Amino acid sequence: TTRKLLLLPGDGIGPEAMAEVEKLISLMNEVAGSGFETETGLVGGAAYDVHGAAISDADMELAKTADAILFGAVGGPKWDKNSYETRPESGLLRLRKDLDLFANLRPAICYPALAEASSLKRELVDGLDILILRELTGGVYFGLPKEITELGNGQKRGVDTQVYQTYEIERIARAAFELARTRRGKVTSMEKRNVMVTGVLWNEVVTAVHADYPDVELEHMLADAGGMQLVRAPKQFDVIVTDNLFGDMLSDIAAMLTGSLGMLPSASLGPADETTGRRNAMYEPVHGSAPDISGKGIANPIAMIASFAMALRYSFNMIEEADKLKASIAEVLQAGIRTGDIMSEGARQVGTVEMGDAIAESFRAK
Ligand code: NAI
Ligand code: MG
Repeated sequence: TTRKLLLLPGDGIGPEAMAEVEKLISLMNEVAGSGFETETGLVGGAAYDVHGAAISDADMELAKTADAILFGAVGGPKWDKNSYETRPESGLLRLRKDLDLFANLRPAICYPALAEASSLKRELVDGLDILILRELTGGVYFGLPKEITELGNGQKRGVDTQVYQTYEIERIARAAFELARTRRGKVTSMEKRNVMVTGVLWNEVVTAVHADYPDVELEHMLADAGGMQLVRAPKQFDVIVTDNLFGDMLSDIAAMLTGSLGMLPSASLGPADETTGRRNAMYEPVHGSAPDISGKGIANPIAMIASFAMALRYSFNMIEEADKLKASIAEVLQAGIRTGDIMSEGARQVGTVEMGDAIAESFRAK
């Protein structure tokens, strides 16, 4: 088998983190014949400097045929004055839109070695492993009308509109149940059906889709209560499925349960092709291009490496390798090897390359 990966390292620390994933890809090809074929494209400011756009049409074509895309990070002071159309983030937005990446997976994992770095009590988060599934292409961020009008009496009126159709809720619900099947078999759906009709519809459609997944437990929670529970007792959850707005907030809250931005991966998936089952998929760290530390060789590559582990799991069905890579990260942290952002007393501080080497070495030895 050949496995086609498109690498879009981007700007700032993006390429530094991506280099550590490329090491793992070569290792897997050499020792296990994994058959990864990589192509590298430009995105963000790096693409703007060459093509005058944050992603070229040619790279978009590669993105549409790759089995998975690994995305680093985009942006930086050099491009802060770019127009709205050519700002580095527009490359990311075009990828999400043109590939119809409607399902955003944000795991919140708290490695035992880092439990003390959490903003919560150690016992609440030690060993935490939950997944927030956010609907990414609909809801109030995109619904129309979206406008500010002058009312003529010195007042203005601003309107955002929350819109969801059945098919949009159906496909994210299906993704949630299928993900839960590969985990602990529980889905918590969050909306505000008490005050929003889209919440009523969301609840109704998720419940209907559940009929196809009797082996998965379904629970409904109002999103505000869910936010409280997420901080009070996060380990009660397995998969949380929610809309674009609530998912944005809840996933940021969950991120803070786990410690550093340098640890958090994400995946964005498109719809599965009805005949082949193939789906567009992009994997990226949650963090940005970190201009304050870029070029210094000190960025934490774990978020990028963990994003690659998600690609192994969700795009290539390489479950054993994905688990091995996750275990390698845990092992290296347990051994007290740390980049600056997750440094603690008594640990050994290393740079990006050394951290990548340590994880690759642990992976090779498994
Ligand atoms: P950021 O995530 O780049 O950095 C926030 C802070 O966390 C910084 O102090 C940074 O040094 C630290 N940090 C982030 N990742 C780290 C890592 N892997 N290892 C160690 N420390 C890490 O967010 P910020 O500073 O708000 O934005 C910087 C640039 O990145 C901006 O141009 C912004 O637009 C862009 N950005 C891009 C994103 C993307 O590509 N998806 C997401 C967020 C921001
Ligand atoms: Mg956010």
